[in-house]
Amino acid sequence: MDTLINYSKKYGFVFQGSAIYGGLANTWDYGPLGVELKKNLKDTWWKRFVQEHPRVVGLDSSILLNPKTWEASGHFDQFNDPLIDCKSCKSRFRVDKMIEGHDASIDADGMDVAALEKIIKEKHIPCPSCGAHEFTPIRRFNLMFETSQGVVDDSKDSIYLRPETAQGIFLDFKDVQRATRMKVPFGIAQIGKSFRNEITPGNFIFRTREFEQMELEFFYKPKATKNWFDIWKHASMQYLYDIGLPEASLRFKDHPKEKLSHYSDATTDIEFKFPWGYDEMWGIASRRDFDIRQHQKHSGEKLHYQDPVTNEKYIPYVIEPSLGVERLFLAVLANAYEEEALEDGQTRTVLKIHPALAPYKVAVLPLIKKRHREEAKRVQVKLAKHFMTTYDESAQIGRRYRRQDAIGTPLALTIDDTTLEEGTYTLRNRDTMEQVTLKEEALIDYIENSINF
Ligand code: GAP
Repeated sequence: MDTLINYSKKYGFVFQGSAIYGGLANTWDYGPLGVELKKNLKDTWWKRFVQEHPRVVGLDSSILLNPKTWEASGHFDQFNDPLIDCKSCKSRFRVDKMIEGHDASIDADGMDVAALEKIIKEKHIPCPSCGAHEFTPIRRFNLMFETSQGVVDDSKDSIYLRPETAQGIFLDFKDVQRATRMKVPFGIAQIGKSFRNEITPGNFIFRTREFEQMELEFFYKPKATKNWFDIWKHASMQYLYDIGLPEASLRFKDHPKEKLSHYSDATTDIEFKFPWGYDEMWGIASRRDFDIRQHQKHSGEKLHYQDPVTNEKYIPYVIEPSLGVERLFLAVLANAYEEEALEDGQTRTVLKIHPALAPYKVAVLPLIKKRHREEAKRVQVKLAKHFMTTYDESAQIGRRYRRQDAIGTPLALTIDDTTLEEGTYTLRNRDTMEQVTLKEEALIDYIENSINF
């Protein structure tokens, strides 16, 4: 993890948030390369599940929703974690994580307060910070960020930053269906920020209080013959294979029935083998008709779907694949980062990332600064209309190649005397280090084909 954190900072993928003020714990800023990688992750996800999917449309709903939403969705009552304070050193912990940290064989997730208190007593669990055994009683802590709307700071104006993008989709379900005339089964996809006042954020960008989700709600007729849960599990996994994550680092993990969220009757996580071990990356939940039925009840609006052929009315069931952008970002970086031993005894850092995800697609490198700069600049302007490019004229060409390898640039275009004399360009491949020579008119197609997703 330290290698990845240092690497991310050095090359401009991820910086500590508010660093010049000493930082703000667990906030992270995405630098020039990080913002490109994030964008490419979102673009490939959108391409796979919206652009190429005949039954899914997109949405961008508000972060701030009418507070009644959270009453209906159960977030006011159910979206909380158990919290405990050490009376001696005043440290605060999320109790289930504190117990699991003490004894990894215990799965305390979802246990009620009485069960958690019993374990702390029986196992004589100490404060992880100071070792004392004096704790406050366990309290339930709601994870939603509360703020107030308008100029008057009055509790009746309280609103909440959304803790998931999903509810915006449920609220707009009827409008989207009407506007697009989509027939069930169909899905609505959305990418956006979510906020959770996590008690124990950590593991770099894995668990933060502000993060992005890529969520899809797929609506289908109850008791459908097709197993949509299975279909979405496998489509999600396939996307991960296709962006280059290996089968050996991924697995499904079913949630046991007694630990399901209040809205779900089946949930499977796709776990990735992060540097500290397998952990949740993508949750796929069967939410049945819970959300739409709740919003219908609380809003008084009719939210059923009417089949245009049979006229049958029903509230659709929902399968929800929900993926965190930052968790995917971390998985992709951890998987792609390599320190490779070369034949000449040197090592090179190389980011073996899928070309579609690479921040820059092509680096333009004039062999000799003074002689080849003008032509290199000209061709870069042309390529930049199609791809993210970068330009480097400093240092020896070998060092410039290494720098591009380290940030995952799949192709390096060299401009030399042959370019000026014969109009040909050399393109070097990051992974094979092999070179091809191309005429200018063939460049764009070649690069396009090399980075395709
Ligand atoms: N709408 C369903 C939902 O939000 P979730 O399992 O709570 O379900 C879905 O979250 C995904 O969002 C997770 O699998 C993870 O990838 C991401 N996620 C959740 N909390 C996060 C956090 N605090 N920091 C970063 N990513 C988070």
